[in-house]
Amino acid sequence: MYKYHCLNPISEAGLARFTDDYVPASDMKGADAVLVRSASMHDLEFDGSLKAVARAGAGVNNIPLERCAEQGIVVFNTPGANANGVKELVIAGMLLASRDILGGINWVQENEEDGNIAKDAEKAKKAFAGCEIDGKKLGVIGLGAIGVLVANAATHLGMEVYGYDPYVSVDSAWRLSRNIHHAKTADEIYKECDYITIHVPALDDTKGMINKDSISLMKDGVVILNYARDVLVNSEDMVDALVSGKVKKYVTDFPTPEIAGVKNAIVIPHLGASTEESEDNCAVMAVKQVKDFLENGNIINS
Ligand code: MLT
Repeated sequence: MYKYHCLNPISEAGLARFTDDYVPASDMKGADAVLVRSASMHDLEFDGSLKAVARAGAGVNNIPLERCAEQGIVVFNTPGANANGVKELVIAGMLLASRDILGGINWVQENEEDGNIAKDAEKAKKAFAGCEIDGKKLGVIGLGAIGVLVANAATHLGMEVYGYDPYVSVDSAWRLSRNIHHAKTADEIYKECDYITIHVPALDDTKGMINKDSISLMKDGVVILNYARDVLVNSEDMVDALVSGKVKKYVTDFPTPEIAGVKNAIVIPHLGASTEESEDNCAVMAVKQVKDFLENGNIINS
């Protein structure tokens, strides 16, 4: 009989796979395995019973990886399980940045009581006019599970897609996404693209990669999307670029105080993976991984 602690609620589809004890918990005492979504585990104490941690999600920056390695605790994540949910929100973000859908909705709500909507519709059409993404260049930095899905979807919307990932071979990137131009450097993306979306983990060499230097290489009026991690973007430099108009819109899934409320920032409260399907996929994969490890000794991170 193994003991599983869920530090965050995970979906019923995952919980239904437990035949042993699982408990919602805020600590890891006595647990054989811990399942976690976004809660930080950095300040939590480990005891000798813990054998595995499963992150129901992609990013593992909330897990003390070094401490786990030192103590022989196996860490799983669920690569790709929520990629489609994030992809769809990235596409929605590109459309929100291009068409003033939110402005239009607010205008209708504010004006509906006056009964003047039909009369003023021409004014609204002008005020909320946008641009199309068809034919525009999209740069995708990071061609992992999410980046590849975004790149493919964008080609179907008529975009010319550039992809860059120093860790993916040209061959495998080509196999994954045949219709994209493979940039040799991130600078090529910065210089060429109208929209840039980042899908890389937060590592020492990616933190702050979008900063005043990289932004200075970009086209005036570029749209930047960040659904990966807040620390990839230097907030101060981004605010300056939004204020000067160098960056037309910054769409981010991280409502940090520096960026929330800044004009031309479209800020979402980390909803990329918040779909029924993604939550089920992540929970099922995480539970399967830890059970297979504890019961059969298998370490399979998929
Ligand atoms: C992830 O790392 O998978 C994302 O941050 C989504 C999430 O867990 O909410």
